Amino acid sequence: MKTQEEIINRIRQLKQEKNAVILAHYYTRPEVQDVADYLGDSLGLSQEAGKTSADVIVFCGVHFMAETASIISPQKKVLIPVPDAGCSLAEGVCGKDLAEWKQQNPDGLVVSYVNTTAEVKAYTDYCCTSSNALKVVRNLPVGKKVLFGPDRNLGQYIRWTTGRDMEVWNACCCVHQPIDAEMVLHALEQYPEADVLIHPEASCSHDERVLNHPRTFMYSTAGILKHAKESPKKQFVIATELGTLHQLRKDNPEKEFIPIHSDLICTEMKKITLENLLEALEKEQYEVHVPQEIRERAIVPIQRMVNL
Ligand code: 13P
Ligand code: SF4
Repeated sequence: MKTQEEIINRIRQLKQEKNAVILAHYYTRPEVQDVADYLGDSLGLSQEAGKTSADVIVFCGVHFMAETASIISPQKKVLIPVPDAGCSLAEGVCGKDLAEWKQQNPDGLVVSYVNTTAEVKAYTDYCCTSSNALKVVRNLPVGKKVLFGPDRNLGQYIRWTTGRDMEVWNACCCVHQPIDAEMVLHALEQYPEADVLIHPEASCSHDERVLNHPRTFMYSTAGILKHAKESPKKQFVIATELGTLHQLRKDNPEKEFIPIHSDLICTEMKKITLENLLEALEKEQYEVHVPQEIRERAIVPIQRMVNL
């Protein structure tokens, strides 16, 4: 059995030998985050996948993220250490669902969250992440109906904020859904000095009591990190997946971060370990393949998003 230090050293060595880069999402385990070359939220990771000069991308995240990287960089070998690391939200809509929805609304523009399969992206007009969803929707021609999916909480937040004519698909993230308005209002009362930083996949995302409160802020993961760094406040309640706390505490050792609930863990992201990351590099497994016909269609909405 190798020690953690030996595993990390071997990962670094193989990375150099194979000209590989490790991309990791903030929800992965702390030790995986620490060995990554680039740590980011969904948007940052997509951008990095397009920019890297590495030959191999090892994607520490869930399957749709690795698939997106492969769509963006088809000439690179994209590996995911655990091929069945899935996402409850991405599973909430399939290509056939979306094709039917489009057929029922021929004038609508489909905006899909990046948390979707390549097949769904192939039926999408614009992709977005939680970082840029508002920007994407605000850039669409005025008066055009928007079909937004699959996350109902992010969709309703965007509808509330932009006032757009939007139909919203009814799926959600099982990790963020339990963050409701009562939980947030209780935290505001319990910590009267703290800002409460909330991911828009939370079910309180369109509750006016939350949105109109001066100490609540709705952000993507990168937005939460930015706010915590730039704010003069010393205490924050964090209403998102708990993996985010690792970087928040590293960036701001003098500040206090309180998770709004102790159960907000994406078990799929946590499937990635240092051991299976090393195995992925050693055996060059598991390679993500997107069929050419799907890739050619799926790249269009991703490119529109990245260009914004
Ligand atoms: P962001 O990375 O866009 O903040 O989204 C969070 C998420 O749930 C990713 O799966
Ligand atoms: Fe999917 Fe939710 Fe996990 Fe993100 S946190 S990967 S949306 S299940």
